[in-house]
Amino acid sequence: MNIRVFDNEAQAGQAAALVIAAQIVKKPDSVIGLATGGTPVLTYQDLARLTKSGILDWDRVTTFNLDEYLGLAGDHEQSFRAFMVKNLFSKVNIKPDAIHIPDGLAKDPEAESLAYERSINTRGGIDLQLLGLGRTGHIGFNEPDSLFSTRTHVVDLTADTISANARFFANPSDVPRQAMTMGIGTIMQAREILMLVTGAEKARAVRGMVCNPVDPQCPGSVLQLHANVTVFLDRPAATAMYHCQ
Ligand code: F6R
Repeated sequence: MNIRVFDNEAQAGQAAALVIAAQIVKKPDSVIGLATGGTPVLTYQDLARLTKSGILDWDRVTTFNLDEYLGLAGDHEQSFRAFMVKNLFSKVNIKPDAIHIPDGLAKDPEAESLAYERSINTRGGIDLQLLGLGRTGHIGFNEPDSLFSTRTHVVDLTADTISANARFFANPSDVPRQAMTMGIGTIMQAREILMLVTGAEKARAVRGMVCNPVDPQCPGSVLQLHANVTVFLDRPAATAMYHCQ
């Protein structure tokens, strides 16, 4: 694990944008895995800016998002698809059919999950996967105690994740209770992983991820077993990591 601590959230977010931009410049037909949530917003702003200034071309890029809430249509304001359109896809020249996000309204979520996995494989797998880290240590929506071998599947969200994500909804009871997520096995198959974590409320999860042995209780710790992982932190997220003993 290559860990880098930045002075603040803006620097960490900008550094993540530069890694993604470099990947696209190096390989214009890259397959990029993307995350939603509060953490990558600044990164997406920077990617939009680099695209507007003519440095980045998304014409041949393919994307796969980590997850989507079950029960929300893609045009629902709080769906992850709507988040991605608002924060990135409406600002870059990606082709609509190159965007992949699980369908939260799929009639058969199991079949949708299998099709999602097939789609990733058909496109040659993910070159670079962007991840955030949940307060529970989750990656994607793979909550504590998830099997490390899982592929895209339906999950029940934990109470902690529901309460963390309630900030995006008018009413906490509106937060969906289930989601479809890439599995840990899917994530670990990406050729390169870039994790971005900011804010003091993530310090405990960061500690569990980097200080402790690999443990399903902290799904992020599985990244210790991946050969090509970079973690960008801001100072508040890094605070508990300095006392690993
Ligand atoms: C998002 C995702 C989640 C988030 C994590 C952190 O697609 O899969 O794992 O990355 O919950 O969320 P924020 O950034 O809102 O703290």
